[in-house]
Amino acid sequence: MASLAILGSTGSIGRSALDVVRLHRERFQIKALAAGHFSDLLCSQIREFSPAAAAVRDIDGARELKKLFPALDVRSGDEGVASLGGFCDITLLAVVGVAGLMPALNAVRSGKRLAIATKEALVAGGQIIMAEAQKNGAEVLPVDSEHSAIFQCLAANGRKSPEEVASLIITASGGPFRGRKLEELEKITPSEALEHPVWKMGKKISIDSATMMNKGLEVIEASRLYSIPGEKIKVLIHPQSLVHSLVEFRDGSQLAQLSLPDMRLAIQYALTFPERWNSPLERLDLAEVGKLEFFPPDPVNFPSLALAYRALSEGGVAPAVLSGANETAVEQFLKGRISFNQIPRFVEKKLDAAPRIPSPTLDDIIMADRFSREPA
Ligand SMILES: NC(=O)c1ccc[n+]([C@@H]2O[C@H](COP(=O)([O-])OP(=O)(O)OC[C@H]3O[C@@H](n4cnc5c(N)ncnc54)[C@H](OP(=O)(O)O)[C@@H]3O)[C@@H](O)[C@H]2O)c1
Repeated sequence: MASLAILGSTGSIGRSALDVVRLHRERFQIKALAAGHFSDLLCSQIREFSPAAAAVRDIDGARELKKLFPALDVRSGDEGVASLGGFCDITLLAVVGVAGLMPALNAVRSGKRLAIATKEALVAGGQIIMAEAQKNGAEVLPVDSEHSAIFQCLAANGRKSPEEVASLIITASGGPFRGRKLEELEKITPSEALEHPVWKMGKKISIDSATMMNKGLEVIEASRLYSIPGEKIKVLIHPQSLVHSLVEFRDGSQLAQLSLPDMRLAIQYALTFPERWNSPLERLDLAEVGKLEFFPPDPVNFPSLALAYRALSEGGVAPAVLSGANETAVEQFLKGRISFNQIPRFVEKKLDAAPRIPSPTLDDIIMADRFSREPA
């Protein structure tokens, strides 16, 4: 039986992960849960799974939790949440944003498995996370469906030699505004942008999908996870979201992974790899689907993707600045303070002004993240 810490347990990925645990109760033990705030949902998760420890970022929320569950090891603040990284055999990291960086580092420093959904942590500090994982013999398993697909295609090839890989092809649904022009996008409201055509996700990633920054973050995430340069990572719009990504090999062969869009599949694989366990999830019937479509991305009306490629090629702290500036701009958009098209404009201004630090330390990345959040 593997012990499991789910950080971000009340979010979209966290709840799906607990669904996977419910399907395999005899094989997983939830030993730790973490969330941003005290909530009824967190309390009901604690009652259902009886973890030994729980962390809440909000310090007052942690006090309330301790009152309700006196025997629980309750931790608080960013340090409390981070301390649960590496607490169990597997850390499933699903907090949103750069808040995932320290929990991810603690998880890989423990030499255990990190199943990572928090792409912002890999974008900001991916090189440090992967180097620490290698040093400490930790496994980093992707939860993002595209990266899980790539992982599975590489595994199918035996993961022997990286030079056999010609390119990674990351698919994207295109979000709710595929085909729209910049003038139309200017008037988009937060509630329109939160309506994703395929996936039901947290607010931040839903907006990132609408701007296509999500795909940009995924390009950087893939580069960090698989040590592949940006020039070998392509993006392909695929509105049906059934082909989750592809790998092209040097002989021209392309391998793809397909399934119905359900994050529980990628989550389960990250927890059970190298085994595949049964799953009651609905199966893909290609005859019923009939048609799969693919298009190139639209760089003119969705400039965020190009900004992510730029940050990846600049290297240093540029990806951390891109991600932090984007996080800030998305928050401002959700509060109605800036327009949809101002999100990439803010990110671009921050990238233009970012310090050039070729081999950043963790402190440099934290400093760059702070810089990225100051007004442009
Ligand atoms: N949703 C998807 O389908 C999907 C797919 C691939 C990758 N991802 C990635 O997975 C991550 C989570 O996405 P999501 O959609 O699940 O987000 P979400 O629904 O907004 O959930 C975020 C979770 O993180 C917690 N949290 C937020 N800030 C925290 C902090 N500083 N410390 C501790 N916990 C914190 C939240 O707690 P409270 O509820 O108490 O605030 C909540 O449990 C993101 O990085 C996203 O890009 C998501």
